[in-house]
Amino acid sequence: MSAPSLEAALRARSPRAHARTARDERENLLIHGDNLAALRSLSPRFAGKIRCAYLDPPYNTGRTFAEYSDALAADDWVAMMRPRLEAIAPLLADDGAIFVQIDDTQLAHLALTMDAIFGAKNRISTITVVRSATTGHKAINAGPVHVSDFILAYARDKKRWRYRPQTRVREGLDPAYATWLDDPDAPPARWTFRPLRAAIASMLGHDSSRAAVRAMGKLDFEQMVALRALESARHVVRFAQPRYEAIARAAQQIVDRSRERPERVFVHEREGRPPFIVKGGNRILFLADKVRVVGRRAAIVEPLTNVWTDMPFQGIAREGGVVFTRNKKPERLVARVVAMASDPGDWVLDPFLGSGTTAAVAHKMSRRWIGIESGDHLATLAEPRLRRVIAGEDATGITGETGFRGGGSFRKVVM
Ligand SMILES: C[S@@+](CC[C@H](N)C(=O)[O-])C[C@H]1O[C@@H](n2cnc3c(N)ncnc32)[C@H](O)[C@@H]1O
Repeated sequence: MSAPSLEAALRARSPRAHARTARDERENLLIHGDNLAALRSLSPRFAGKIRCAYLDPPYNTGRTFAEYSDALAADDWVAMMRPRLEAIAPLLADDGAIFVQIDDTQLAHLALTMDAIFGAKNRISTITVVRSATTGHKAINAGPVHVSDFILAYARDKKRWRYRPQTRVREGLDPAYATWLDDPDAPPARWTFRPLRAAIASMLGHDSSRAAVRAMGKLDFEQMVALRALESARHVVRFAQPRYEAIARAAQQIVDRSRERPERVFVHEREGRPPFIVKGGNRILFLADKVRVVGRRAAIVEPLTNVWTDMPFQGIAREGGVVFTRNKKPERLVARVVAMASDPGDWVLDPFLGSGTTAAVAHKMSRRWIGIESGDHLATLAEPRLRRVIAGEDATGITGETGFRGGGSFRKVVM
């Protein structure tokens, strides 16, 4: 029997279907049913509309969870995933992207399947997500302890896809920032430098960093260095060798001159960009350029890499007010994916919705969303979670960061 179309399902359940308004076209959808049938039914209405799809399918862990079984032969798992990924491809916008989270059980099969469907040339990134510490039973597995998930990211068309740049907060001071600039307000030709630790030791009333360590202990002194560096970030610099062949001719000439006169600071002004400041052939980079206010505090931020160590899974047991042991993903993790691949008002799709994390995140981030889940926990976990979000009763997860206070709606469709 062919799958009922979602349009038909919507009409069948809407007493005033004929009077569907433009608002309905924007309505979020919570679909209870098998995702293959649902995805195929979405096709006419949502073709080319999904800006970001996030999938967190069963990992094929061999376990049987209370809510669903997660044990298939590898080939059967691929046979389950392939048509679903194929059904998502035409739904993606030309500048859209798909992200699939997985552990290493099916990683290789998934990568080959996604290469085949979306094209290896459209691979954006393979992200490693460090999800746990090396504690507990995992430590007794043979071989290295597994602590990571992966997210395979593909664009529908990489040439058209746009990355919304993301940063992450760095814990601790990058050891490369080891130099103190005495007077950043003086003309660069008069700048004088000292080792960072010596400067901070002297601020604390010690003759040297060694004396400070003796008096305070290494740990406390290093904590103080990190704190003071952050407070005085305009004074804290690092020297970095520029990639000579990658910089403009004028910058190369400055580098050459500064090598001839290593005691002098050279400044090359650039239109619309920060000046290129060089000493001894090395660029001078300021810690201040990496400091942002995050929440209410100043923090050092860095460009996001494809290794995510800052998305702890610990402490999410109560997120969204739902218990979905071993399966629920942190809202902050999904939010990062949504943020890098969509803008407010865009459609976000999650066909393995589980406890509703992606829909909750998309809702709080002012995206429109479609969530599909076949299990009964759609009604016991995802739906009540989303109703709490809408009622402004969910203060967990990313609620604080987004400032979301409630509002919005969704339509539930049972297929
Ligand atoms: C790993 S969980 C997703 C967890 C989710 N990201 C969260 O944070 O709660 C995978 C989900 O996919 C659902 N699922 C598995 N096969 C499905 C299918 N064919 N159609 C719809 N949902 C399915 C399972 O019931 C399970 O809830």
